[in-house]
Amino acid sequence: MKSIKHFFVILLVAVLFESCSPPNKNFAGSEYMPDMGHSVAYEANVFTYYYYNTWDSMSTFRLKDLSMVRPPVAGTVPRGYAGIYFAGDAAAQQDMTRTLRGGDAVNSIAVPVNGHVPYYYDNTEEERLRATAEVINNPFPISAADMARGKELYTTFCAICHGDKGDGNGYLVSEENPNAKYPVVPANFLTDEFVSSSNGRYYHSIMYGKNVMGAYKDKISYEERWQVIHYIRSLQAKDRGLAYSEEENTLNTAFGTPKSQIVMPAVPAEAEVSDAGMAAHDDEAHTSGSGH
Ligand code: HEC
Repeated sequence: MKSIKHFFVILLVAVLFESCSPPNKNFAGSEYMPDMGHSVAYEANVFTYYYYNTWDSMSTFRLKDLSMVRPPVAGTVPRGYAGIYFAGDAAAQQDMTRTLRGGDAVNSIAVPVNGHVPYYYDNTEEERLRATAEVINNPFPISAADMARGKELYTTFCAICHGDKGDGNGYLVSEENPNAKYPVVPANFLTDEFVSSSNGRYYHSIMYGKNVMGAYKDKISYEERWQVIHYIRSLQAKDRGLAYSEEENTLNTAFGTPKSQIVMPAVPAEAEVSDAGMAAHDDEAHTSGSGH
């Protein structure tokens, strides 16, 4: 009787141990009730030492030091738009823009397709000043299409406070609104201070908001933020009788480049040279081959 009891205890222990066995080449391992206790998601750009269904200290300890960033796949365009204006003629540009935007994908609202462009400034006053000092130019050329979209976005997200003209007298605070109770006066973009402020000040406010103004980074994409900023610049130009458009920028050339003024580099010519070089090389090989 006693030995049967022992037998069962030993069996139970054996079963328990076996049920938590480690993985090997042909077996993924098992554990008792993981219950979604830990994520087994793939950690992109991080050295992953995967063992026994968990992230051990080797892979979680100072991930930054262990990260193994993969270079972009050959032939792909890294995130951002830089490639578009170097794609050759207008048709090629359009083609590349379409590809970068995910073609006809449902989520193709902006380039890059995943919508993420890193922003290296924190949400503090010092960082706001640093962004203002360092982020100067709008990475997108001023185009009529972007301006139209910027107007739409501005009217949807900003005009209620900052006003249709950008004068800070939006409906939320204006006298025409009998229920105006908004406690703070929104920034007036038409003042000298805001006209001369660099784009970083605007971009930073969209990313984090400021005091009572909320952040808009989760509402408008990377490209859309810059479209809104283009539009605010056009409001400033209009107020001062200056130009800020696809044709011309007399407001401040540092803040935006009109699309019509973008000079296309001669990329196709360079490609021809290397093609010709390769062709000549091939010919040589052929000639020498047939000579033998
Ligand atoms: C609900 C009202 C409201 C909305 C909507 C709003 N803002 Fe503001 N915004 C404010 C207020 C109020 C301030 C002044 C904050 C302060 O200086 O304390 C401000 C300040 C700013 C500033 C100046 C920040 C600085 O550096 O002094 C910028 C730029 C700005 N907003 C841009 C925008 C843009 C772009 C949008 C639309 C995407 C937007 N705001 C939408 C209320 C709003």
